[in-house]
Amino acid sequence: MHRFSSIFHGSGLATHFSETLIWRHPPKKGLATTTILLRFLLVLIVAAFISSLWVDTSRFSVDNSINNTVIIFQKRQKPPKEIIIPLNCSTQNQTQTCPTNYPTTFQTQYPDPSSKASCPDYFRWVHEDLRPWKVTGITRDMVERANKTAHFRLIIVNNKAYIERYKKSIQTRDVFTIWGILQLLRKYPGRLPDLELMFDCDDRPVIFSRYYRGQNTTAPPPLFRYCGDRWTMDIVFPDWSFWGWPEINIRPWDSILREMKEGNNVKSKWIEREPYAYWKGNPFVAETRKDLLTCNVSDKQDWNARLYVQDWILESQQGFKQSNPARQCTHRYKIYIEGWAWSVSEKYILACDSMTLLVKPHYYDFFLRNLQPVEHYWPIREDQKCKSIKFAVDWGNNHKQKAQEIGKAASNFIQEKVKMDDVYDYMFHLLNEYAKLLKFKAMVPEGAVEICSETMACMANGLEKKFMVESMVKGPSVTSPCTMPPPYEPKVLGAFYRRKVNAIRRVENWENTYWDSFNKQ
Ligand SMILES: *[C@@H]1O[C@H](CO)[C@@H](O)[C@H](O)[C@H]1NC(C)=O
Ligand SMILES: *[C@@H]1O[C@H](CO)[C@@H](O)[C@H](O)[C@H]1NC(C)=O
Ligand SMILES: *[C@@H]1O[C@H](CO)[C@@H](O)[C@H](O)[C@H]1NC(C)=O
Ligand SMILES: *[C@@H]1O[C@H](CO)[C@@H](O)[C@H](O)[C@H]1NC(C)=O
Ligand SMILES: *[C@@H]1O[C@H](CO)[C@@H](O)[C@H](O)[C@H]1NC(C)=O
Ligand SMILES: *[C@@H]1O[C@H](CO)[C@@H](O)[C@H](O)[C@H]1NC(C)=O
Repeated sequence: MHRFSSIFHGSGLATHFSETLIWRHPPKKGLATTTILLRFLLVLIVAAFISSLWVDTSRFSVDNSINNTVIIFQKRQKPPKEIIIPLNCSTQNQTQTCPTNYPTTFQTQYPDPSSKASCPDYFRWVHEDLRPWKVTGITRDMVERANKTAHFRLIIVNNKAYIERYKKSIQTRDVFTIWGILQLLRKYPGRLPDLELMFDCDDRPVIFSRYYRGQNTTAPPPLFRYCGDRWTMDIVFPDWSFWGWPEINIRPWDSILREMKEGNNVKSKWIEREPYAYWKGNPFVAETRKDLLTCNVSDKQDWNARLYVQDWILESQQGFKQSNPARQCTHRYKIYIEGWAWSVSEKYILACDSMTLLVKPHYYDFFLRNLQPVEHYWPIREDQKCKSIKFAVDWGNNHKQKAQEIGKAASNFIQEKVKMDDVYDYMFHLLNEYAKLLKFKAMVPEGAVEICSETMACMANGLEKKFMVESMVKGPSVTSPCTMPPPYEPKVLGAFYRRKVNAIRRVENWENTYWDSFNKQ
């Protein structure tokens, strides 16, 4: 029986199984009739099980066709038809307006909420990031106080988005962040609550927890940005590069992810890749990166590292062909090292199928916290990078199967749980949970302007325009967002941290043993 139930469980789509599984081979001579009877009974039980399923939920139907095959399939097997609503750019010298005919109610064709899978586990950090306001809620004063470093205020009222700009961000970070939010509104029209939030597009988090502890009963201002760390309470939100980074010709994430998937499968098998640790980037943004460069291979040393400085000027002259993340999966090991804060390069590195050597990070983005050392990446010490890298690469080349698995686990995580659909669902739930805490009615302040995909994309030029068109959500989603998981139990969270720390400690011990053995020789 368990054989059949295991076929059942975890099957989202059509589940076929056939009685011929049992009946195909005629019983050998001498096989007791009781066995045959038992088998027949088993089939009956299974059939009963199926039909009970059918009665319980309308999602399955059972078809008993001539060849004795029982087919169970979900009624919603066929993906619902996509609705496509193109940009409506006004003709030349009219000022661009936002369309009034975009759907504002959200109707999934299959509104059964139980039919949609639970969100990936890392969504649980939404609860953690909003915990500082769980008891107090968020007042207007708190939001206003977050304006100190914010680049813009986002206001959503009645499904329309408004922006109050305070200052220009570096490059097009603000543009593509706002673009991303507009795409979320296109994807889930009518599903986003009214809200006001402050967004800071700079790298490092700024809301230090220590100012809001103990005697100081001032509540922290809620401020959205791309990364956080253990000392701060900034709320993490997906970064602009998911929609594109025109300055360095990084295409929208969807396109890159697709390209990488093809590249990983077709072009370069892990075993055929260079058996070294590769890194390419800008070393001038952080001391730790300059320090990393000392590990580069030379006549005198080989720490198994192959490191390159990204020359953006040269690259731009060559059309950034060398900086395409999908073409940088040429080595078995890839180093991730933070820059001024977290680095956008992280997802491209993890998606490579190579084993990621993760130099001890201090910052996290919205999905990093759920990755486990040795399962998804190999931890690298910060203070002894060269030795740590040398050991990691040696270990991997001696445990090729395991090293490959670690690489694969990370790229599976990225390919399956950090798809654009997941990114939008994360934003959706984060904004919904945030809005639940607001203690005031969102209002459009003077000085704010309505924005929509049309006001941004119709006027854009060059790569900006290209990436906007490429990353535009085609129309309202016909499926609901995934179901938000509950917060971590404190015990579970504790165990989660311990597991992480222990795994890192274990690697450090292996590493110590490795280097001790050299010293003894
Ligand atoms: C049995 O019938 C089903 C549906 O009629 C069909 O899809 C399947 O291919 C058949 N199997 C065999 C072994 O003929
Ligand atoms: C585009 O917008 C104009 C005015 O804003 C409107 O009259 C027209 O119907 C829209 N076209 C489509 C295809 O929605
Ligand atoms: C619109 O632009 C065209 C040329 O670009 C010009 O000839 C025409 O006078 C303009 N119309 C208005 C109403 O401004
Ligand atoms: C931030 O908000 C305060 C009031 O809370 C206001 O006095 C100040 O001018 C605002 N700063 C900016 C940059 O808008
Ligand atoms: C409490 O924290 C706020 C925000 O950092 C700060 O401005 C204020 O001076 C602090 N008050 C005390 C008594 O420390
Ligand atoms: C690292 O070494 C390689 C091989 O010698 C060389 O091509 C590369 O330029 C070096 N990288 C740096 C940052 O010096």
